[in-house]
Parts: sequence; C-alpha cells; structure tokens
Amino acid sequence: MEQTNTTQQSQEELTPEVREIRHADYPIDPLFLNRWSPRAFSPEPIDDETLMRVFETARWAASSYNEQPWRFLIARTEEDRKRFLDFLLPMNQAWAKDAPVLVLFISKKTFSHNGEPNSVYQFDAGTASGYFSLGATQNGLFAHGMAGFDRDMARASLGIPTDFNPLAVFALGKRGDKNQLPPEMQQRETPSDRRPVAESIMEGRFLPDIEERAEADTEQG
Ligand SMILES: Cc1cc2nc3c(=O)[nH]c(=O)nc-3n(C[C@H](O)[C@H](O)[C@H](O)COP(=O)(O)O)c2cc1C
Repeated sequence: MEQTNTTQQSQEELTPEVREIRHADYPIDPLFLNRWSPRAFSPEPIDDETLMRVFETARWAASSYNEQPWRFLIARTEEDRKRFLDFLLPMNQAWAKDAPVLVLFISKKTFSHNGEPNSVYQFDAGTASGYFSLGATQNGLFAHGMAGFDRDMARASLGIPTDFNPLAVFALGKRGDKNQLPPEMQQRETPSDRRPVAESIMEGRFLPDIEERAEADTEQG
C-alpha cells in the first residue's frame, strides 16, 4: 500500500494564515493548529444547533471523579451581552463587544458526592475550555479566552454562589474584519507560534537547562 505523508496531508488542510506561521514538530490533526484566538469577531448570530455542538465537545472532557465541575454561563441577547461586557477589562471590551456569544466558565470548588474540596476544579474546567475551543474550530467558529475580567463583579452581577469560582470568559463567533479593531490590535491579529515541544518535557526530574531554554523561547501572549 502506498505510504501517505501525514505531515503533508495535514499541511494541506491548514488555513492559509495558519500554514504560514505554525509548523508542528510532529504530525498532528490540523484542527489543533487551526485553532487560534482572533479578536475580530462578526456580530452574526450563532444558531442554537451550532452552539450546542460546541458545548457538546466540552461536555466530554475528563474530570476528577467525573465531577464535571464546569458550568457555562452564556450571553446572547443584547441585554445579557451588556451585563457580561460590563465586567470585562477595557482592553477586552474593546474587541469582545462584537462577539455574538460570551461564555463565562465557572467551576465548583467542592465534590458533589461528599462536599470535600476539589483540588483540581480549575484544571478540569481548563480541560473543558480546551475542548470547547477546539469544538468551536471544528464548527467553523473561533473562541478567544479572557482572564482579564472583574471576578467579584461577575459573581455579583450574575448571582454566582460562593461554592463556584468564575475562571474565564470566552468570546465565541465567526471571524470578523480585522479593520474593525483598534490599530494596535490589528497587527497582532495573526496566529501565534509555540516553543519546540521538547522544551516542555523533562524526563525523570526537573531539568534547569530545559527550563532555561523554555523561558527564553516563551513569547508574550
Ligand atoms: C485562560 C485564558 C485567558 C486569556 N486571557 C486573555 C485576555 O484577557 N485577553 C486577551 O486578549 N487574550 C487572552 N487570552 C488569549 C491568549 O493570549 C492566547 O490564547 C495565547 O496568546 C495563545 O494564542 P492562540 O490562542 O491564538 O493560540 C487568554 C487565553 C486563555 C486560555
């Protein structure tokens, strides 16, 4: 049987802007490279079926004790989007205002089966957010995460109980025109690269030499 070069195959499925910048060290599904975080969003609404497909992806993330500590608070109406935008930092409001869907990821700090603290509630919600972002890409959308928001304001404004912590807001939608962004954001509207995979792996113990290289090669987000 004829051998296929999976790297070549994957390259052919990359979007043009991604193909120019992102090169996997080892072959991976192009979905992983095609996911990135733009800031220019089209206000075009997302239909219910597509939105639910994206959340369905997040649903299948693994979690400690299968607790599924994540909850997704969503804003689609003008009224709800305004309430969410109000607790974003101005640098995020500047672009997230155009996204048709805003999603606040919150996570439950204790286990439902015994009320004990769940030491990995953020880790598990983070996994779900990764699935969510890939699910967005798979459905022709883009997701852009934001840690830059006022957590106390979000909690008060949305009535979030103390047993849950607000973790991140995601903008979700179709790509917009980069010219709609403030000028300083227009030049950053491009997929980012990564340090080599070998610089994130330490075999057997913590390796300061690898850490030094990793830090030197880590770009500002
Ligand atoms: C949890 C989280 C919080 C983030 N917070 C912000 C933010 O507040 N504002 C922003 O513009 N981008 C934010 N980002 C986007 C990152 O800067 C971006 O994911 C990173 O530079 C890698 O680029 P990529 O997602 O395009 O691959 C955040 C991403 C994540 C996952």
